[in-house]
Amino acid sequence: MNSPAHHNDKDQPLGQLLKRLWRDYLSHHKVAFFSSIGLAICAGALTAGLLRFLEPAIDLLFQPHPGPVRFLNVFTVQPQWLIALVPGVIIALSIARSLTMAGQAALVNRLGHGIVGDIQKQLFSRMINADLSRLRNQHSGTFVSSVLFDANLVREAFTNGVVNYTQNVLIVVGVMVAMGFIDLPLTLIVLLGVPGVSLVMRKFGKRSRKAAKGAMAETEVLSSALMENLDGVRVIKIENREQAEEANVAAVIDRRQRHVIKGADSRAFAGPASDIIAYSIVAAVIGYAGWSASKGQMSVGGFAAFIGMLMLAGQSLRQLSNLTTVMSEGMTAARRLFTALDIQPEIREQANPQSLPAGPVEIELHNVEFAYSTANGLVPTLNGVNLKVSPGETVALVGPSGGGKSTILSLLPRFYDVTSGRITANGIDLRDLSLSSLRDQIALVTQEPFLFDDTIAANIAYGREAATEEQIIEAARAAAAHEFILGLPQGYQTRVGEAGARLSGGQRQRIAIARAFLKNAPILLLDEATSALDTESEALVQQALDRLMEGRATLMIAHRLSTVRNADRIYVISAGKVIEQGTHDDLIATSGLYARLARQQSLDAPMDLLPDETGA
Ligand SMILES: Nc1ncnc2c1ncn2[C@@H]1O[C@H](COP(=O)(O)OP(=O)(O)OP(=O)(O)O)[C@@H](O)[C@H]1O
Ligand SMILES: [Mg+2]
Repeated sequence: MNSPAHHNDKDQPLGQLLKRLWRDYLSHHKVAFFSSIGLAICAGALTAGLLRFLEPAIDLLFQPHPGPVRFLNVFTVQPQWLIALVPGVIIALSIARSLTMAGQAALVNRLGHGIVGDIQKQLFSRMINADLSRLRNQHSGTFVSSVLFDANLVREAFTNGVVNYTQNVLIVVGVMVAMGFIDLPLTLIVLLGVPGVSLVMRKFGKRSRKAAKGAMAETEVLSSALMENLDGVRVIKIENREQAEEANVAAVIDRRQRHVIKGADSRAFAGPASDIIAYSIVAAVIGYAGWSASKGQMSVGGFAAFIGMLMLAGQSLRQLSNLTTVMSEGMTAARRLFTALDIQPEIREQANPQSLPAGPVEIELHNVEFAYSTANGLVPTLNGVNLKVSPGETVALVGPSGGGKSTILSLLPRFYDVTSGRITANGIDLRDLSLSSLRDQIALVTQEPFLFDDTIAANIAYGREAATEEQIIEAARAAAAHEFILGLPQGYQTRVGEAGARLSGGQRQRIAIARAFLKNAPILLLDEATSALDTESEALVQQALDRLMEGRATLMIAHRLSTVRNADRIYVISAGKVIEQGTHDDLIATSGLYARLARQQSLDAPMDLLPDETGA
């Protein structure tokens, strides 16, 4: 959603954008939408009516009346009633006007925020269904600011734009017509000022648009920086980088602030600047009116109404020009949102996918090549890997760090698709299977197990919501986690805290293993599943895993060779290739890389000190 969204800013023309806004969102709320426009029209008409009433009203009050008077050409009243009637009509009209405006605002708020909600839900759905490679290539802050801010910009464009636009255009037109009735030449003088005002507005509008764009970019940077600092708080503290990070974030905030202030300024200054023109017009009008009143051509009421209308028209014009800014900001945001919403995941199912039935599964990699696609292009990672795991077999992957072991594992649940070659499950290409049936058959324990901010029980049963308490406890026992869970303040109901922060690494790993036990899937993928455990619990968990592996196809990665020596087959992966394969004894006998690793580990040398043969 990051880069393409920004590059395609100009791709969709405005018309298409509006059409889509209508088709995807507004048309679902037709009644509310047209009612709000209808109410806007009423409010505009009532405003113009209120001012139009001023002329006859004031004239009626100021003229001496010898007998009964015609009031508004509707009925005849005694002159003494006028003093109550005129204010009464003004109050009635203004109440009607306020009610319409309030009703319209309430409708528009519901409609606008409803649309924001719709867009946010869709964005989240796109994110959760997006390819891993896309999510990896984009900063999470970009996504967060898009969900939080872009959708709201679109709403503002819609509320201010579509609805207030109608209202203000109507007011301006209505007022001009009403003014024309009072005094045509005067109205023409006023119209002369319009181009001047709109020129000023356009100039300020341009500046505020530019500022808004800058502010939006800095908002993304800011939210990324905030998240990164929270994630990396330990590194920041141990390296004493608090002040440096403060300075970094302060710089981002300052930059953002400068844009925001510039935008707010140009919006705020646009009013006063055009007021100068507006008041010059008012002055000209007063001068002309005084001259024409002295010749008896204009009444006091007409004059008062005219000035009132002039003010109102000025206000509406000012709002209209603000609208162009809001609209263009909103449309930029809409373009970005739509581009993000349109990205289809590349990892998809066929039209009629086969389903992988529950039961033993044999996995085979045929000549698999794979390259990560990153912002900097393709990174070739696997290079012709052939590998087979049959039901009941345990196959181990070992080799230097960065060799491609975790990558192989992530191809099996189709987190990524192979670049060439193929992977089959029971002879069926993974790409022909339905994603859910494939992933249902796989249990995965990763290098960095992730826990949700929920209870221990919920974390073990994640994905198996129907699991009973007994099943959860059984899985925890099998993962050697039951004891420590009982020791927690609320046992299985203890919340593990945000990102599982309140548990040790080994405890988290055992929860993840319990999750795998509960899933009871025929394919088991273990990526350093026991690396964070002490020797004793590793032995315990290993026994449990050995039981779990029975009858399943297990692919495990381990750095500690003691963990893999009993595997049916060991593949040594280096630089994206299988360089050796066989049983522990076979590989020791060939005295290759594996034999060297084994020798070094019996000296207790940590494997990471080995030269990295990938050259990375
Ligand atoms: N998401 C990614 N995008 C780009 N390159 C990646 C990505 N993940 C891994 N790589 C690269 O692919 C190569 C293989 O990584 P992989 O994680 O598969 O190694 P590994 O054998 O599991 O290493 P380790 O033993 O340290 O876990 C590395 O060079 C790594 O930099
Ligand atoms: Mg790895």
